[in-house]
Amino acid sequence: MNKVIAIANQKGGVGKTTTAVNLAASLAATKRKVLLIDLDPQGNATTAAGIKEESPNTLYEIFFDNISINESIYESSGGYQILPGGQDLLALEIGIRNQNQQQFLAKTIKTITTDFDYTIIDTPPTLNQLTIEALFAASGTLIPLQCEYYSLEGISGLMDTIQSLSNKNLSSNRVLGIIRTMVDMRNNLAKEVSEELEAHFSSILFNTIIPRNIKLAEAPSHGVAALQYMPNSYGAKAYLALAGELIRRVENV
Ligand SMILES: Nc1ncnc2c1ncn2[C@@H]1O[C@H](COP(=O)(O)OP(=O)(O)O)[C@@H](O)[C@H]1O
Ligand SMILES: [Mg+2]
Repeated sequence: MNKVIAIANQKGGVGKTTTAVNLAASLAATKRKVLLIDLDPQGNATTAAGIKEESPNTLYEIFFDNISINESIYESSGGYQILPGGQDLLALEIGIRNQNQQQFLAKTIKTITTDFDYTIIDTPPTLNQLTIEALFAASGTLIPLQCEYYSLEGISGLMDTIQSLSNKNLSSNRVLGIIRTMVDMRNNLAKEVSEELEAHFSSILFNTIIPRNIKLAEAPSHGVAALQYMPNSYGAKAYLALAGELIRRVENV
């Protein structure tokens, strides 16, 4: 089935990487075969996946050194597999543009020989070529959003980009859902914004709310997802619930 899902929002610090890693681990816990692709030069998802190699293959080696993606997939600490990311991806971003190789990631994913159920792509906090590569490759996009004023402003550009790619028949990508992250319901503003999202985006808003939970912030420094670090934490349970909701939407079960 390999459902390719991009996690995107050009704002930084909204919970993209946390969502990518914990969703990958939660989907893997439901016996789905999951590949996580780290497309962010910061490589945070790679660290959180517990990858110990000094310089693992990334999409950079696949692009410049003609290495197969199948030789660049590593086992993570969370039951899913990962194509790591890192600083080299900055050069890749330029390389793809200079050599006019747009849609390189989409083509590369088609050459994967393992039968993955889900491929989750973590993207950088900009709408650059790396993020566009993810949007080209994905059939759905998840948008993590913090419940603050202005948090919606950033996503209109992202939604327009997804729409224009599909209008030009360059991709079948659509917004699969908006995810409320780092929510503290004791905070009145968060509650207000959350209710506003329910009113305006009811059709695509995920019911699962990801709470602000310190275990989600601590787990990456141990190279694991919250599900491995503290399975009973609110954070780990919230991402399990999110995975369940995603499965119901995507697999119609
Ligand atoms: N639900 C949460 N509760 C507590 N801390 C969180 C939560 N989600 C993310 N964080 C922390 O917030 C920071 C930014 O999250 P991150 O996932 O890296 O965002 P992005 O990838 O969008 O830049 C990180 O330090 C992360 O550990
Ligand atoms: Mg990130």
